[in-house]
Amino acid sequence: MEKMLTGIRSTGSPHLGNILSVIIPSVSIANKSTKHSSFIFIADLHSMIHIENIKTIKNNTYEIAAAWLAFGLNIDNCLFYRQSDVSLVTELAWYFNCFYPYKRLVLAHAFKKEMKEIDHGKISVGLFTYPILMAADILLYNAEIIPVGKDQLQHIEIARRIANYFNKKIGKKLFVIPNAFLQKKNMFVLGTDGKKMSKSKKNCIDIFSSDEILKKQIMGIRTDNKSVEEKKNPETDYIMLLYSLIAPLDKIEIMKEKYRKGGYGYYEAKIALYEYIIHKFSYERKKFFSLMKKKSFLDHILALGAKKAKNIAQERLNCIRKHLKFNSIN
Ligand code: TRP
Repeated sequence: MEKMLTGIRSTGSPHLGNILSVIIPSVSIANKSTKHSSFIFIADLHSMIHIENIKTIKNNTYEIAAAWLAFGLNIDNCLFYRQSDVSLVTELAWYFNCFYPYKRLVLAHAFKKEMKEIDHGKISVGLFTYPILMAADILLYNAEIIPVGKDQLQHIEIARRIANYFNKKIGKKLFVIPNAFLQKKNMFVLGTDGKKMSKSKKNCIDIFSSDEILKKQIMGIRTDNKSVEEKKNPETDYIMLLYSLIAPLDKIEIMKEKYRKGGYGYYEAKIALYEYIIHKFSYERKKFFSLMKKKSFLDHILALGAKKAKNIAQERLNCIRKHLKFNSIN
């Protein structure tokens, strides 16, 4: 069975985009996997690049963990852990830092974009080497299938290059070349402003927030200013686009028809979307809120996962160290 691995940064509870493009498809693969063939982790080391308050990082890891479990992740065969609990990955990241040409990383989209948008004084070296740590997450376990959102494709490409680069330098196939696994249907979930859903853009639909916040986010979806009576285009409206991602086909068609006919306002459409989200995710929301009250249980589960992952990582790292002529560690 091919090894699957994925991670989500711990920057607050996962939004609808993360859930549709990463959590749901990954849970489905992980729950069919054989022993130790799937790895799901909370990328808290990656989230350090943006979070100013250190305390929130730990707290956010609980939200991510609870979300995975609420969506039914079975941890019998899956290694489910916090990235910072298996810090051996940072050693591998250092080796990659030393092998990979600086000039190539400068070309990474995410880095270039932030260089344009953020005050340069706030850009850390961590932001620059982010793809290197991500490559280490993947290559440490020789993972082959990486479910990610579309925005992460370049990072996977960098991991592939690093693997090839390192294999060539060492003269041995030490690293398997990973492949991104893209959920075709939901590969690009748009946020309330019609741009890619992302925490930093504050355009998320947070299904694990309170009813009031969720409703407020949905009411904030941007629309044109057509009156209730006017006919509307269901193909371009953001409420409709979001509804289409989660509702069954017959319900989507009914709503589209209402748009085309006119006499159906955006407010009503938003209420329909809100109610459908509450209905569709009612089990997961209940489970999430209940798990968030059991932090020691979450700590326990993540510690078990980290222990297993550490054993595998240690063995792999020793094999890599051997090729670098370093001593084994235990
Ligand atoms: N960069 C990913 C994100 O922001 C998180 C991540 C870190 C990841 N390491 C990974 C995803 C390894 C897949 C594999 O969503």
